[in-house]
Amino acid sequence: MKRIGFLTSGGDCQALNATMRGVAKSLYASSDDYEIIGILDGYKGLMYENYKVMKREDFAGILTQGGTILGSSRQPFKHMRKPDENGLDKVLAMKETYKKLNLECLVILGGNGTQKTANLLREEGLNVVGLPKTIDNDIWGTDMTFGFQSAVDVATDCIDRIHTTAFSHGRVFIVEVMGHKVGWLTLHAGIAGGADIILLPEIPYDIDSVVAAVEKRKEQGKRFSILAVAEGAISKEDAQLTKKEYKQKLKNNPYPSISYRIGAEIEERTGQEIRITVPGHAQRGGSPCPYDRVISTRLGAAAAKLIMEKNYGNMVGIKGDDIVPVPLEEVAGKLKMVDPDSSIIKQAKDLGISFGD
Ligand code: F6P
Repeated sequence: MKRIGFLTSGGDCQALNATMRGVAKSLYASSDDYEIIGILDGYKGLMYENYKVMKREDFAGILTQGGTILGSSRQPFKHMRKPDENGLDKVLAMKETYKKLNLECLVILGGNGTQKTANLLREEGLNVVGLPKTIDNDIWGTDMTFGFQSAVDVATDCIDRIHTTAFSHGRVFIVEVMGHKVGWLTLHAGIAGGADIILLPEIPYDIDSVVAAVEKRKEQGKRFSILAVAEGAISKEDAQLTKKEYKQKLKNNPYPSISYRIGAEIEERTGQEIRITVPGHAQRGGSPCPYDRVISTRLGAAAAKLIMEKNYGNMVGIKGDDIVPVPLEEVAGKLKMVDPDSSIIKQAKDLGISFGD
């Protein structure tokens, strides 16, 4: 019997279960010789031996179910080499659980930090296969991550709903979109939702340009303006600061997030009424959209194939129409960001969307 461990780590998203189902179904279809061990709550379960033996039925009916049937937790990579509060060596503990469970390999579903730890475990001699999960779409080595398109749907729906009320009241609205340090989600939801101004971390904004874009719409007789602002959006002046200086500045500012600061600045300068909407974790909730169900199923089947071939140490990534193995050492520690000179940005600018630059 070959024992395969499954683990979901970091912030959840809509298609984690769909992806695990893809791996499990493909393994079970190939042989009766596979047993799946579900490691609970991410790397924490591996550290503290918290797991359950999965049955085939556990993977039935979960294609459309959001969240993760295994639970998840955040175990920052930067703390992996630090002992826990009781002095436990986390990396050693994970290796011991792996050995004790007699695992053939670990299937690790997660975002950037998770893939970094997956690479660390690979360096420590464990067999691992990574799967690219995140609503942020910021994993290097894959065109697309599962969860992203579902989150685009939610954020777009939010902007659509804001449109009707913004028109009724003639207000300026800011919708703050998740995405951590990158702007993929904001860019796609902003374009899909018809936002007038889109602010991304990759294109630091000038508040004068943002205000000018709002004023211009007013002059054109438009009743309202909608800004899609990434949670990681940053002003041109703040982009000059060191990470430490910026963190310090954020500590001393009165705003709960960047949108509130931008909203206050626009209100002060234009006198227009501003409202802020933060859909937050709803962007990660609910069922995966059909696109995510398709790529999750395909990525799952591709991961199972790597296991059958004993081709370990890779993450499966999407490249064009193909699904390819990408060495984890290439993935770890890199971030896939929006290119300010890419055609999608140029086309958005061509039709008059302001990026505040
Ligand atoms: O990485 C996914 C994500 O939803 C980011 O977009 C966001 O910045 C972060 O997780 C929120 O993390 P948490 O769930 O720990 O609040």
